[in-house]
Amino acid sequence: MAVILDGLKVSQDIKEEIKREVDKIVEKGLRPPHLAAILVGENGASKAYVSSKVKDCQEVGFTSTLTKLPDTVNEKELLEQIELLNQDDSIDGFIVQLPLPKSIDQETVINAIDPKKDVDGFHPENFGRMALEMDAYLPATPYGIMTLLERYNIETKGKHCVVIGRSRIVGRPMSILLSSKGNPGDSTVTVVHSHTQNIEQFTRQADIIIVALGAPKYLKADMIKSGAVIIDVGITRVEDDGTKGYHLEGDVDFESCKEVAGWITPVPGGVGPMTRAMLMKNTLLAYKKHGK
Ligand code: GUN
Repeated sequence: MAVILDGLKVSQDIKEEIKREVDKIVEKGLRPPHLAAILVGENGASKAYVSSKVKDCQEVGFTSTLTKLPDTVNEKELLEQIELLNQDDSIDGFIVQLPLPKSIDQETVINAIDPKKDVDGFHPENFGRMALEMDAYLPATPYGIMTLLERYNIETKGKHCVVIGRSRIVGRPMSILLSSKGNPGDSTVTVVHSHTQNIEQFTRQADIIIVALGAPKYLKADMIKSGAVIIDVGITRVEDDGTKGYHLEGDVDFESCKEVAGWITPVPGGVGPMTRAMLMKNTLLAYKKHGK
C-alpha cells in the first residue's frame, strides 16, 4: 500500500510559512503583497479556480483584486486591462485565467503580461529562463510537484521520470524541471504524448510518473512498476448519474495503483492545492523582487 502524498497538508504548511512572512512585512508598516486576476466569461471551472485563488490570498494576508470581463470582450479591450495591471505599482503579480474565448489569441495575451508580474510563469521570457536554469517564476503546477517531491524527500537524482502529456503549463515545463540540475532534479526524463506508441513500455520502466492528460483513470496498475512514485495532475469534472452534480476525477486509477505504487497523490487533495500554494509563493517573490 502506497504512501499518500498529502498535497493539502503540505500546501497548508506553505501557506502558513507565507502568512508568517506577510505578518512580519505588515508589522513593519509596509503594504502586503497584492495579486490580481482577470477572469473572462462564465466557464464554471475557471470561476471556481479564481475564487479559490482569491480565498488563498485572504488566508495568507495578501490583497487581491479580481477583474471580471464578459466573454464578449475583444482582444484589444483585454490587452488594455492587462496594460493597466502592468502599470499599477500597487500590484505585484497577476494572472489571466485560461482558457480564453476562441476569439482571443492566447499567445498575444500572455506575451502582453509584464514578465516581472507574470506569477503564472507563462510568459516566454520566464519559460526560457526556466529552461536555461536561470532565476524565473516557475509555472505553479510543476513548481508544486517539485515542492511536494522535495518535502517528502523523494530522491529524483538519476531516476527515470516519465511525463505523460506535453502541455505548455504542465508536461513540458515538468520535463524541463525534472531534468534540470539540482534537488529535486537531475532525473532522466521521457516525455510521452498522443503520438507515442506503446506508452506502457515507458511507464512500466518509470521510477516516477507524472500524468497530465485530462483522461480520467487513464493510468492503471498494470502500467506501473512496483514502488513507483505516481503524481496525478488530472482533475476532470465528471457528471454524477441522474443529478446535476459532478465529482472530480484524476488521470490515475487510484484504487488499483495505490496497491502497487510506493507513493501516490490523491485527487482531490494532491497536486491541486500545491498549485494554488505556489501561486502565492510566486506572488510573494514578485513583491520581494519588485514591490514598490
Ligand atoms: N487554467 C488552468 N490552470 C491555470 C493556471 O495555472 N493559471 C491560469 N492563469 N489559468 C489556468
